[in-house]
Amino acid sequence: MKLVRQFLDLPNDSKVKTYGVALLLCLVCSVAVSAAAVALKPVQDENKLLDKKKNILQIAGLAKPGQSVEDAFKQVEAKVVDLQTGAYVEGIDANTFDARAASVDPKQNLVLTKEQDIASIKRRAKYATVYLVKDPQGQVQKIILPIYGYGLWSTLYGFVALKGDANTVVGLGFYEHAETPGLGGEVDNPQWKDKWPGKQVFDANGNVAIRVTKMAATEGEKATHEIDALSGATLTSNGVNNLVKFWMGADGFGPYLQKFRKGGDA
Ligand SMILES: Cc1cc2nc3c(=O)[nH]c(=O)nc-3n(C[C@H](O)[C@H](O)[C@H](O)COP(=O)(O)O)c2cc1C
Repeated sequence: MKLVRQFLDLPNDSKVKTYGVALLLCLVCSVAVSAAAVALKPVQDENKLLDKKKNILQIAGLAKPGQSVEDAFKQVEAKVVDLQTGAYVEGIDANTFDARAASVDPKQNLVLTKEQDIASIKRRAKYATVYLVKDPQGQVQKIILPIYGYGLWSTLYGFVALKGDANTVVGLGFYEHAETPGLGGEVDNPQWKDKWPGKQVFDANGNVAIRVTKMAATEGEKATHEIDALSGATLTSNGVNNLVKFWMGADGFGPYLQKFRKGGDA
């Protein structure tokens, strides 16, 4: 107490008092910011989850005006899939499984070889969460799959929604990326996103045929697989092309989708 009194009694132009006050201010501010960050973390996590759900609903065409996200999401069932076998994994809560954290955990990830890593992600989690929308008879109507990969400046994170045939695209969109607004950022443009629904992921031989390309075909078999690249953003477009190819392919959801196409719900 005596020390505080002595400090306060110092003249205002004293260096010790100036530095002391500055230090005290820094301490108080950093404690306040840290306390706010810790206290708001649960709210932030909740909002992130809500945002993710909102995106899933939008991409799958399930968002209805006036309906809350939580209510609309009741029709979506999350399941964890083993990407190598394509089979569902029991005993892991799909709602809390964090594929992003698992992808950097050596016990839970697969390091991709240069040939495998067309999406430039270096490693991926062994498991992934898939989201299913079923009709009242239990038939899968939509399959929503998380996808991500490198564009020009950033990793783009999003979802692709397919019909129950595990082939026809219902929608595609990204909820997180740092591409340039107006250039690569046009991946969020509804007009570009509208080019995706109806496209077929696989050709008649079961090979991944969907691709983002300049001057996409407008008729014939090719037109069912090709999406026009973004003009002025070829590098981001290439990134999207690569990441879609990766996640639909053998090292992504390929085995899962193949099972699905052969015998309904994998
Ligand atoms: C500041 C700046 C930001 C850019 N951002 C992007 C981007 O986000 N995505 C992209 O593909 N190209 C971006 N470009 C353009 C690329 O450098 C390249 O020119 C472009 O991808 C070529 O596309 P085009 O063949 O359709 O013209 C950016 C260029 C500049 C100067």
